[in-house]
Amino acid sequence: MAQREIELKRGLRDVYFESTESSLVIGDVGRLIYRGYEIHDLAEHASFEEVMHLMLVKHLPTRAELDAFNAELCQNREVPQGVLEIIERVKDGHPMDVLRTAISALAAFQPDVDDVSHEATLRKGMRITAQTPTIVAAHHRIRSGNAPIAPDPSLSHAANFLYMLLGERPDDETARLMDKDLIVHLDHGSNASSFAARVTASTLADVHGAIVTGLGTLKGPLHGGAAEGVMKMALEIGEVDNVDAYLAGKHERRERIMGFGHAVYRAEDPRARHLREGSRRLAERMGDPKWFQILSRVEEYMRPYAERGICVNVDFWAGSVYYLLGIPEDLFISIFAVARVPGYVAQVLEQQDKNMLIRPQMRYDGPIDLEFVPLDQRG
Ligand code: CMC
Repeated sequence: MAQREIELKRGLRDVYFESTESSLVIGDVGRLIYRGYEIHDLAEHASFEEVMHLMLVKHLPTRAELDAFNAELCQNREVPQGVLEIIERVKDGHPMDVLRTAISALAAFQPDVDDVSHEATLRKGMRITAQTPTIVAAHHRIRSGNAPIAPDPSLSHAANFLYMLLGERPDDETARLMDKDLIVHLDHGSNASSFAARVTASTLADVHGAIVTGLGTLKGPLHGGAAEGVMKMALEIGEVDNVDAYLAGKHERRERIMGFGHAVYRAEDPRARHLREGSRRLAERMGDPKWFQILSRVEEYMRPYAERGICVNVDFWAGSVYYLLGIPEDLFISIFAVARVPGYVAQVLEQQDKNMLIRPQMRYDGPIDLEFVPLDQRG
């Protein structure tokens, strides 16, 4: 076939490259399912540890299984001193660049880094999952001139993360909100960063490499970076009364509104409701309703766009939750990463278990048959 007749599937939209049992996104009605369970049931009734077990071990755990799983995570939370030293060296970088660098460095401290058997990938993947919050928190402490806080094994993954990051043990409601946030961000079908991680895994590269690839991809503003953009927008708006004029200006300039639209959802992102409610409750408890009111008005203004399938997505409300918790905006993507790393591990395991090198094609639109002119004869 002549190259120009090849039909392109730009952005690989609607291309099914593999089968999966990990998660299902039903875009037209806004449903998200993790291994058969509706996201709302998991967000409302399960802990992040239970959901991680579901995704990595493929079933919801019994109490004894959960205790063993949790113990393994807690034992692996520390990061080597050598990695903390690297974090110190690169502390002025964006937190996602520092996280990516630190996880890359962890590979050098992992003796069986190249073992891509299921058992080794799961073991190493759980260790990276346990270390990711420690790295994010340690970096933030170090760059703020404070010593990193050692993990507390009596706290859950979510509560321990907030403790190491902010220096105070969170109350139960706050810990539960972070837990929910991590649950809804854990996995999401063939999202760009999990796909990128799979491409790396498909070459039989190790899980550290696959996660580094995923994190590099997650950083972009069209993917993990949107929550940061939403809060920047809310801060620029400043007051509820400014919302309409601000958004009208954005539309005039044909700029995108962060936190709206999705490559798959044409209805409301089912993850958004949990964080909307979390943001509302948090604002109420903190006596600081301004950001919730501004974002509610933005959501209302954007309602007519739903007819074009541009609806609110998970990142819209996530940013306000993090902001109210006192977390700086440049850490928002790192929180997404804390949640998504076990999702990468689940997808890397799946890829490795029935591997096929991912190697699509590109149509070549350039010239052919050009005559080569040696360097000293080119004018
Ligand atoms: N604001 C205004 N217009 C939009 C938006 C938006 N947020 N999103 C899409 N559109 C318009 C876009 O301008 C285009 O209009 P036209 O056809 O007139 O040129 C049309 O909708 C289709 O856009 P597209 O980029 O082809 O659609 P997509 O499905 O590839 O876009 C997206 C998906 C996430 C890249 C896009 O919606 C976007 O840029 N959103 C803002 C960033 C964001 O919130 N990202 C977080 C996604 S959720 C977290 C995650 O799972 O990664």
